[in-house]
Amino acid sequence: MPNPARDALIARLPKAELHLHIEGSLEPEMLFALAERNGVAIPFASAQEVRAAYAFSNLQDFLDIYYQGMGVLQTEQDFYDLTWAYLERAAADNVRHVEIFFDPQGHTERGVAFETVLDGIERALKDGEAQLGISYRLIMCFLRHLSEDEALSTLSEAAPHVGRIHGVGLDSSEVGHPPRKFERVFAKARELGLHVTAHAGEEGPPAYVHEALDLLKVERIDHGNRALEDPALIARLADEGMTLTVCPLSNLRLCVIDAIGASPVKRMLDLGLKVTVNADDPAYFGGYVNDNFRAVADALDLTHAEIVTLAENSFAGSFLAPADKARHIAALREVAE
Ligand code: ADE
Ligand code: ZN
Repeated sequence: MPNPARDALIARLPKAELHLHIEGSLEPEMLFALAERNGVAIPFASAQEVRAAYAFSNLQDFLDIYYQGMGVLQTEQDFYDLTWAYLERAAADNVRHVEIFFDPQGHTERGVAFETVLDGIERALKDGEAQLGISYRLIMCFLRHLSEDEALSTLSEAAPHVGRIHGVGLDSSEVGHPPRKFERVFAKARELGLHVTAHAGEEGPPAYVHEALDLLKVERIDHGNRALEDPALIARLADEGMTLTVCPLSNLRLCVIDAIGASPVKRMLDLGLKVTVNADDPAYFGGYVNDNFRAVADALDLTHAEIVTLAENSFAGSFLAPADKARHIAALREVAE
């Protein structure tokens, strides 16, 4: 049930966003503007037509449109504008720290240079830190439908930029592309000092979550919904204090759940799991982080304390230094009173 006091709490709580694909924040209006700026043909006549096409039956349906949409991103300024628009939106939701994913292989395979992508995203993140007070980490994802060799060569391109890139992730079509395919890639990434996370258990089975933990040695699980099918895995995730970056509106729009009331957020909280709430690809799934918080809070009737825990988990599960986590969590508790 809607609850204005709860909405006000969600709005004023400082939070971190840990699961956000920057290319998934490309709103239809910007898609049109960039298509025109770059002379790229798109098969839609209006932003409304684009939104109407965003009806997905599963992850792959979405990915096909998502990769097509990326085609309008060509120059450093395009990546800057995309990232800046997201940061302004995040600031409006009281997001104080972001750990955003980018998909370089979706751009380099179209002939856009790795540095063009990185420079534009990073310039906006730096401006966001200076002008909006939002700190950041940048996470490079490997597209799991591509080969191990392609991931290794992308990691080589990234290696000179360690320090500007803080971690690696694994995304795209999950089923049929298990984490074990990238065991050696992740070992190299860890040797470079990069943080590691992976999408697992969105559509894929609990075994993929086990593999992400055992073989990739991830520090977070992105999504992790299907971990709830495996009691031993639940116990392990709870014991290890593993953060799960759940994306409720994404789960609904990709038919991972059949109603927002089936979101695992409350069950995960009840099981003592470190769940967080995130937007994933907000331009495609109908909402930014506070929309996701409100959707689950209403559908699952979350308490004040549960909402505060979700926001705390977002800082605790981030790649920030311990002192920065503690500072954010102290500020959050003041606001929560
Ligand atoms: N790439 C962008 N969003 C994704 C998602 N939800 N799952 C897998 N890959 C993605
Ligand atoms: Zn994702």
